[in-house]
Amino acid sequence: MSELDELARRRGFFFQANEAYGGVSGFYTYGPEGAALKRNVEETWRDRFVTREGNMEIDAPTVTPEPVFEASGHLDGFDDMLVECAECGDSHRADHVVEDTTDIEDAETYPTGKVEDIIAEHDLACPSCGAPLAGQSVDEFNLMFETSIGPGSGQPGYLRPETAQGMFTEFPRLKEYARNQLPFGAAQIGAGYRNEISPRNALVRAREFTMAELEYFVDPEGEGPDLSRVEDVELPLYPAGAQEADGEEYLHLTPREALDEGVVGDEWVAYFLARSKAWFERVGVDMERFRFRQHLPGELAHYASDCWDAEGEVDGDWIELEGVASRTDYDLSKHSEHADDTFTVFKQYDEPKTVERATVDPDMSYLGPEFGGDAGAVADALEALAARDRSAFDGDEVTVEVDGDEVTVPTEKTGFSVEEVTESGRHIVPHVVEPAFGVGRAVYTVLAHNYDTDEVEGETRDVLRLPAEVSPTTVGVFPLMDKDGLGDTARDLAADLREAGLSVTYDDSGNIGRRYRRQDEVGTPYCVTVDYESLEDGTVTLRDRDTTDQVRVDADDLGDVLRSLRDGDREFAEL
Ligand code: GLY
Repeated sequence: MSELDELARRRGFFFQANEAYGGVSGFYTYGPEGAALKRNVEETWRDRFVTREGNMEIDAPTVTPEPVFEASGHLDGFDDMLVECAECGDSHRADHVVEDTTDIEDAETYPTGKVEDIIAEHDLACPSCGAPLAGQSVDEFNLMFETSIGPGSGQPGYLRPETAQGMFTEFPRLKEYARNQLPFGAAQIGAGYRNEISPRNALVRAREFTMAELEYFVDPEGEGPDLSRVEDVELPLYPAGAQEADGEEYLHLTPREALDEGVVGDEWVAYFLARSKAWFERVGVDMERFRFRQHLPGELAHYASDCWDAEGEVDGDWIELEGVASRTDYDLSKHSEHADDTFTVFKQYDEPKTVERATVDPDMSYLGPEFGGDAGAVADALEALAARDRSAFDGDEVTVEVDGDEVTVPTEKTGFSVEEVTESGRHIVPHVVEPAFGVGRAVYTVLAHNYDTDEVEGETRDVLRLPAEVSPTTVGVFPLMDKDGLGDTARDLAADLREAGLSVTYDDSGNIGRRYRRQDEVGTPYCVTVDYESLEDGTVTLRDRDTTDQVRVDADDLGDVLRSLRDGDREFAEL
């Protein structure tokens, strides 16, 4: 167990769930410190990606009926590569076995057959028992947890593997709330589930985890973001080309430069990369150990045309913390095909336009006898083809695809014509840009990047240098000792500070030095001590975690002082 995992367990940040029953890997419980840290991290995310961006937040169910994932492509395409050991029966991510034991770094992007061959060629062994894996098949394994909704055989459903589908399936309502105006964003913070083949690294690859996702719906021909708002942000970019060339050189570009140089292809992606970087810095990710890595073509999810991962380095590994993906019109188009509702937005023109529109009026007395029960589908396919490609009707025959089969119809039976119509606007399928964050991974990285050891008064101390805004506790309140009224005064002060909206811990056990160490270890940025002078003049000592400097502050001012320190409106040194 790493030092960090040990601290996390001992001090109540996170630990394996259900340990009393032996536990199951991939499931974690956040203890009191961790739950508070996670909640604060989520609050800053909400502040940045919902409130300050003027987006809406929703809260959709986690159990989702099967047709949603048929439409979204997750039923077919949300797989990892599985190899099972014939000797011990353990299951492993086949691409991870390859990446962990050879020089190959992108096995995830290979087809299963190629990974099978590599395992055989390199004679790779089972990570659990060391038996050879050569000859074992490598199969696609769907990561969704299946469930049954209702009694009996029920209706098949799945625990959502991403919160995103909630924003897509509810799009018909959300666009009404947005008054049919693009762009707009809908966000959700909540649980996601993936039946990982081999969960590892604690919160980094868990089977149940919290996601914070923003689906930003844009008109692909509409105005882009106001990049002047992020013009000073420098993005550390690691493009796919540099990875393929085996380079470790990052480009440091502003969003505007990244777009002008063709490194980032989409203005909204560039904008959200900048907003994301600032947010990661705000919650305490070390910017010296942070980058945006572009997905390699074979690595892209089935719905994405481009994706940049925010990554943080921990113990030599780069952890994916966020993906900023261009999902194009993939999701809303798929739901348009499969669902009954409308997944388009009506885009009003400034002035009505007269346009040519190609339509069909098929001769059903021909289609009926010719195609039987498929006649309606053939007519729909002709209609769609006319809208898409009127030149297809130039010849004597027209070919369309119905249920995977090609059918041919004489053009004269299609009733094809081109008419002039006046339109006040048209229906468009919005494109989606998605900043999607793994909250647990962010929490884990923030803990790893802020865990430090230094020396205070000749003693080594463990200290978590968390930003005050996300620290589980803002202030520890201690009486010098619990006698002569010091304890009562300190308890009153702690109650007053809680009333003032601060997160407070009261502690009177052990010597003051030990109490400071306890708070340093869980990241509490400030501690207050009530001493004999406090009883005389109403002042207390306020100590800063990072410098261990102390100042005397009037107890009556303490609430305001601490709030301004926590919110970054004032520096401790100014006191
Ligand atoms: N919605 C993005 C993801 O599932 O990673």
